[in-house]
Amino acid sequence: MAHTQRQLHLGAFVYGVGHHIAAWRYPETNTQGLFTFDFYKRFAQTAERGKFDMIFIEDIPALPEHLETSVQYTVPVRAEPLTLLSGLASVTSRIGLAGTVSTTYSEPYHVARKFASLDHLSRGRAAWNAVTTSMEITSQNFGQDHHLDHSVRYERAEEFVEVVTSLWDSWEEDALHIDKASGLFADADKVHAIDHRGRFFNVKGPLSVPRTPQGRPVLVQAGSSDTGQNFAAKTAEVVFTAWQTLEEAQAFYDSLKGRMERYGRSRDQLKILPGVLPVIGSREREAKEKEAQLQELVLPEVGLSMVSRTLRIDLSAYPLDGPVPDLPDAAEINGGKSRYQLLVDMARREQLTIRQLVARVTGARGHKTISGTPEQIAGHLESWFVNGGCDGFNIMPPYLPGGLDEFVEQVIPILQARGLYRTEYSGTTLREHLGLSVPDNKFLLKARHQHA
Ligand SMILES: Cc1cc2nc3c(=O)[nH]c(=O)nc-3n(C[C@H](O)[C@H](O)[C@H](O)COP(=O)(O)O)c2cc1C
Repeated sequence: MAHTQRQLHLGAFVYGVGHHIAAWRYPETNTQGLFTFDFYKRFAQTAERGKFDMIFIEDIPALPEHLETSVQYTVPVRAEPLTLLSGLASVTSRIGLAGTVSTTYSEPYHVARKFASLDHLSRGRAAWNAVTTSMEITSQNFGQDHHLDHSVRYERAEEFVEVVTSLWDSWEEDALHIDKASGLFADADKVHAIDHRGRFFNVKGPLSVPRTPQGRPVLVQAGSSDTGQNFAAKTAEVVFTAWQTLEEAQAFYDSLKGRMERYGRSRDQLKILPGVLPVIGSREREAKEKEAQLQELVLPEVGLSMVSRTLRIDLSAYPLDGPVPDLPDAAEINGGKSRYQLLVDMARREQLTIRQLVARVTGARGHKTISGTPEQIAGHLESWFVNGGCDGFNIMPPYLPGGLDEFVEQVIPILQARGLYRTEYSGTTLREHLGLSVPDNKFLLKARHQHA
């Protein structure tokens, strides 16, 4: 019998050798695995064993500004996501493959072509996380002195996505004939130039890759500012986000889904997945000790510089045990706005000192940390899910490979037993796992409109 209860969607978020900022120093972490294929293969296969909807690989095409802390004491180096995902497509069969590519520092034709290729090679499992990139120094790797303004980044992102989706639609589904007998490879009437001329891009098309198994790869978005939400409401099918409390998550959920109607979309065409960093122990005390052990591995200068970067202020100039200084309104910030606001709200709400704020956010970078038994973690996920806080989660293992193994072996079975999570994949594509329909082909819609 088909399952009718609403179920969680889960992403397994890859972040270096683990999400905790000190993961690489943790005794159980395979830090040497960072640039080996087997490390990621094990991750993807474990997530697939846990029936995750997808794995997700983040990306920023730059190193943070302060090399003294970032390179000396953290692990800011990464393999490029699409290269990695292409390899992983060949050692997995069902799990979705999501990766970040920046709309500020790439070209839409490249992006459309790469994700369409990945969708074909993985038989319908590709997803693109379209981010505007918050790290300002990135501009200097791409021949630009200044990072575009926040609002202009989103204007560019909107046009970027418009071009990419048009390119994905430029081949109609039945354009390919591959008829050896007649010699007809494809029907030219079903392959369309897109002739896009806009403020940021001029792209003729069509794409050099035919329509993909998912129709279009799944579109993900990860900015939560007001502008980011409008962008997501218009185009995104999955949204990654970060919240500390259920109330914040609910407010965001309602705010974002409430905007979709404006764009003629229904609420179920978008899945919202906040991040959660689970620290698992067989008893609560053991989990708390594990979390404390990870925290002890964070050198003081690392945490302070990370929070200083997000808040765009040098906190080392202030007393560690004093209050977080007055900070400008998010409107004046040109990096990522929503994470900035999250930290400011947290500091104010709980009246944290600088030391306390640093201790609270360095581990998970502003995402929610839950340390407890598998039952407690499952209970937390269930509570956010059934109370309108989300459609699922991005699971962020604190260290690898053990952090994901434990989640799959200990938490997933509880979610399954409660009927909150699949025990088998029912489809083969990522769209099917997420319960997302294929968006209508723009060229067919246009033709229908002209004939009506
Ligand atoms: C789960 C998650 C994943 C993210 N992944 C990336 C990423 O891979 N690359 C990136 O530059 N930003 C990433 N971001 C951050 C934002 O999408 C992005 O930097 C954006 O500029 C922030 O936009 P905002 O001002 O609308 O919040 C991620 C955010 C979340 C919550």
